[in-house]
Order: sequence, then C-alpha cells, then structure tokens
Amino acid sequence: MSDGVGLISLLFFALPGSSAVFTQEPTDLVVVAGQPVTLPCSIPGYHGMVLWLRDGMALGVNRDLSGYPRYDIVGDHSKGEYHLLIQRTEIQDDAFFECQAIQAAIRSRPAHLTVLVPPDDPVIVGAPVVSLRAGDYLNLTCHADNAKPAASIIWIHNGLVLSGAIYSKTLLRDGKRESTASTLYLSPSNIESGQQITCRASNKAAPNGKDASVTIDIQHLPIVNLTVEPQPVLEGNLVKFHCATKANPPVIYYRWAKGGNVIPDVSGDTYEVLVDHSFFTEPVSCEVTNTLGSTNISRNVDVYFGPRMGAEPQSLQVDLGSDAVFKCAWTGNPSLTIVWMKRGSGVVLSNKSTLTLKAVKQEDAGKYVCRAVVPRVGAGEREVSLTVNGPPTISSTQTQQVLYGEKGQIKCFIRSTPPPDRIAWSWKETVLESGTSGRYTVETVSTEEGVISTLTMSNIVPADFQTIYNCTAWNSFGSDTEIIRLKEQGEEEGEDVKRQPARSENNRGSDPVHCS
Ligand SMILES: *[C@@H]1O[C@H](CO)[C@@H](O)[C@H](O)[C@H]1NC(C)=O
Ligand SMILES: *[C@@H]1O[C@H](CO)[C@@H](O)[C@H](O)[C@H]1NC(C)=O
Ligand SMILES: *[C@@H]1O[C@H](CO)[C@@H](O)[C@H](O)[C@H]1NC(C)=O
Ligand SMILES: *[C@@H]1O[C@H](CO)[C@@H](O)[C@H](O)[C@H]1NC(C)=O
Ligand SMILES: *[C@@H]1O[C@H](CO)[C@@H](O)[C@H](O)[C@H]1NC(C)=O
Repeated sequence: MSDGVGLISLLFFALPGSSAVFTQEPTDLVVVAGQPVTLPCSIPGYHGMVLWLRDGMALGVNRDLSGYPRYDIVGDHSKGEYHLLIQRTEIQDDAFFECQAIQAAIRSRPAHLTVLVPPDDPVIVGAPVVSLRAGDYLNLTCHADNAKPAASIIWIHNGLVLSGAIYSKTLLRDGKRESTASTLYLSPSNIESGQQITCRASNKAAPNGKDASVTIDIQHLPIVNLTVEPQPVLEGNLVKFHCATKANPPVIYYRWAKGGNVIPDVSGDTYEVLVDHSFFTEPVSCEVTNTLGSTNISRNVDVYFGPRMGAEPQSLQVDLGSDAVFKCAWTGNPSLTIVWMKRGSGVVLSNKSTLTLKAVKQEDAGKYVCRAVVPRVGAGEREVSLTVNGPPTISSTQTQQVLYGEKGQIKCFIRSTPPPDRIAWSWKETVLESGTSGRYTVETVSTEEGVISTLTMSNIVPADFQTIYNCTAWNSFGSDTEIIRLKEQGEEEGEDVKRQPARSENNRGSDPVHCS
C-alpha cells in the first residue's frame, strides 16, 4: 500500500485542544460483489471536515461523493456519523478504506474491504456436444473466468468426481480477478456415447458452484452383423440376408456384392434372393458406409445342391498294358458320395472322383459309370468309355451248322482296336480275303461292336464238312485266329463249345459279346 495518508496530511491543520475520538471505525469486511456494504465511521462532537480515502485516494469531503455514484455518506450528522455506504460493491471496491477527521487530526485504522467475485458461467470448449472417434482419448477443457478468488473446477461424470484434471489460472489485468482452466483427459474405456460430463466451478462467492455440461458423442465405423436365413437351404429357395448395423454417425448407404461383384438395385439393409449353388462358393458381402468409412462383412450360404459336374469326364483310348485314369469332378453340398462302376456290373471300382485302371486288359474295354449322390438332395451320373488298343480278338462259335445242298455261311466276329488291317479266311489250299472265288464269297461288315467277316458257300457239298476254316485277323498289335468247323444241321449239338472269356478270374465285370 502507498502511504496516501501522508499525502492527505499536507491538508492537515490541527485544532488545538481538540479531543475528538472515533467511536466507530471501519473494520475488515468481506462482501460478495453486487451486495451493499457499510463502512462505519463515528466521531461524536466533531464538526470539522471528514474525508474517506480508498487506497489512499480521497473520495470526497463530508457528504459530497459526487464522483462516486455508488457511494453515499449515511448516518446522523449531528451525532458525528459519517458511514460510507457502497450500494453495489464492485471489484474496484476491493481496497483499504480509511476515514479521517481533518481538523481533529485523527484517522481511522485502515480497513480492508474484500470483494468476492463469482466466476462467470463456466464454458466447456466444444459444448454442447463433443464428438470423438471410438478409441480416442477424450480431452475436455472447461474455463471459469473473472473470479475472485480463482474458481476451483471439478469434473463430474455419473455422479462421481473425476480426478486427474490439470488446473491452471491467470491473473487478470486488474490484479485481482483470475481466470481458471481445467483440462480433463479421459480414457475411452471410461466413457460411453450419450453420457454427460459436467464441469463445476466454485469459489467463496459461488459456494454452490456453477455448472456447464457436455454430451459425449462417440463416433465409430458401422458395426455390422450379417445374418443369413434360413440356413441350410435347398437350392432354389428364398434366402434373406440382413445387415444389422450400429453406426454413429448414421449409415449413408449400403452396398451388396456377391463373389466380388456389386449387386445392382439392392441398396437397403436387406437382400432377398432365390439361391443357387453359386452362393455356396461366392460369398455375399454387405458394405455399410458412414462418414467415417465402411465396414464390409461377407457370408457364405450353406446351400444344399447337387451333384453338379465340373469338367465332363473324358472317354479314353489306351494301349493294352497301360493305365487308364478317369476323373469325375462332381461337386455338391452337403458332401457327396461317388462310385465308379463298370456298366453292367455292380462292383464298385472306386469311391473317389478318380478311377484308375492299372495295366488295362482288353476285357477292361467298355463303358464306365461315375455316379454321385448328395444324400436327400440329388444324384447324377456320367458314362465314359474305355477303348483298349491291342491285337484283335475273335469270338465265334467254333462249330457252325449248315445244310447239304443249301447255301452255307460261317461268321467270324472280330473285336479290334485299332480296326483290323487285314482279315483272311483259309481252308485247304485256299486263302480268301475278300470277293468271290468259285463257290466262296467273303464279305466284311463293320458294326459298332466290331467287324463281322462272313464266308458264304453257294451250295454245300460233303467235302465242306471235312475241312477246317481258319479265320485270322491282323492289326498293328498282332493277330488272332479262330478255327471253325462245319456241322450238318440237325446233328447232336453236344460238341458245341462256347468260347470262354480269356480271363474270367478278373472281376472288372467284362462283358463278352458272343456271336454265331
Ligand atoms: C488436449 O487438447 C489441448 C488443446 O486442444 C492440447 O493442447 C493438449 O495437448 C491435449 N492433451 C492431450 C493429452 O492430448
Ligand atoms: C451382432 O450380434 C451379436 C450377437 O448376436 C449381438 O450381441 C450384437 O448386438 C449384434 N450387433 C448388431 C450391430 O446388431
Ligand atoms: C467386400 O469385400 C470383398 C473382399 O475384399 C469384396 O470382394 C466385396 O466386393 C466387398 N463388398 C462390397 C459390397 O463392396
Ligand atoms: C471308400 O473305399 C474305401 C476303401 O475301399 C473304404 O474304406 C471306404 O469306406 C469307402 N468309402 C465309402 C464312402 O464308401
Ligand atoms: C491259320 O492261318 C494263319 C495265317 O494264314 C496261320 O498263320 C495259322 O498257322 C493258321 N492256323 C492253323 C491252325 O492252320
């Protein structure tokens, strides 16, 4: 404090013999800004000049405080009362006050008037709604300005006071009031979207505090559940895909794709479709977008279907002794069973998609069936043929019947892959491959099953029964021969012997063709 009293002392002139004394002097007081306050000063019997000083500055003489509209001198003048009434205290009233009786040369003790100022309403930066991204820390600042003494700030969440805020204050230019700021740093695990956080500023002038609140808005990418119903489902039925989403900010749009290709014309949270087998392998995805980005979820559908053929199995032509491998690429759901069988035989050769025949024999030639079953859903089958390259095989009845005097025919049935290069009939000294020689004619006909060579005798004579007929066929792999005898029709047939399959011990279900 500057000693203003000394300055006023210059005006001082003493009245000798004066015995004036203060019966009331101002005392230290505390007042909340805006409230009235009265500083007492009584000097009974004194009739001289009375002066009030504030921080050493004279406010005015006697009752004339015209420069200070909020100040009045009150009390009974005749009793020497010069109380200073401050109507509505303000911060500049926060000062030392002194009452002086000039002619009596006395002054009161300096009394300190403390003016308390409540903080302005607190302000949370960013209020009323503070948005942050999920997982980010919340960083809130609240300030409560222009308070005396500086406001203290607490943060309240769910009725509890939070700790750990960082507090700072700055003194205003008036040297008396202070502004306070508090920064709260909160872990994302401690807060949920929609909750409120309150900043409460208080000081002695506002003991109950003043509140400001902020609502926390936690934003996140869409959280998506993609449901598929019903499942499992039989091919051809209706399936509903539903993309249940939680998003903040809200969803802008949905996009659907199947197997990576966007499905046009579907833009809502639901997609309904009649499913086929492709839904089993091509996932359906739902992509949900808000301003923060997109979430994309995929689902396969458990579609029951099948069996369906991938690559068609191929028929094979292989050389005698090599391996034959057939493949049947069935797919189905639920898992299918496959069997490979030779047509006409009930023997299961394989229960895998691949059938391997090792070192094939000529009897292995024929048709093979690959059959697939998806239990309770469906079945399918494909047929392929195996052709075995090898020497010809001839089957024929070794004894053929004819009638005297009539036209007679003997036939030779040749199975041969590749087809025979040459077929020859020989008997006695004659060899005939084709055409006519005397009574004899050779004709060769190709059928699907093989080649039939027929030796025709225009009319049968007894000598024809005495000889043997040699039918021989050749191809690049070798030859086969069949010796045939003639027998008069009507004779006992006890000698008839059917030619047996060469390797009847094999169980590949060979299917020999007999010919007569
Ligand atoms: C909180 O925000 C303030 C102002 O934006 C910044 O200065 C401060 O570094 C932030 N605090 C943290 C811990 O991120
Ligand atoms: C997703 O499903 C789970 C479990 O069924 C559930 O708890 C969650 O709330 C769902 N989310 C949405 C976005 O529907
Ligand atoms: C979702 O992601 C998958 C895989 O990246 C993509 O193939 C598909 O097209 C996406 N879905 C949408 C609707 O964009
Ligand atoms: C397939 O064949 C193997 C071996 O012959 C056998 O053990 C298996 O049980 C068969 N599986 C089916 C489904 O028939
Ligand atoms: C049948 O004819 C062929 C070819 O002419 C000959 O090689 C073979 O020895 C003959 N067979 C008999 C039993 O005569």
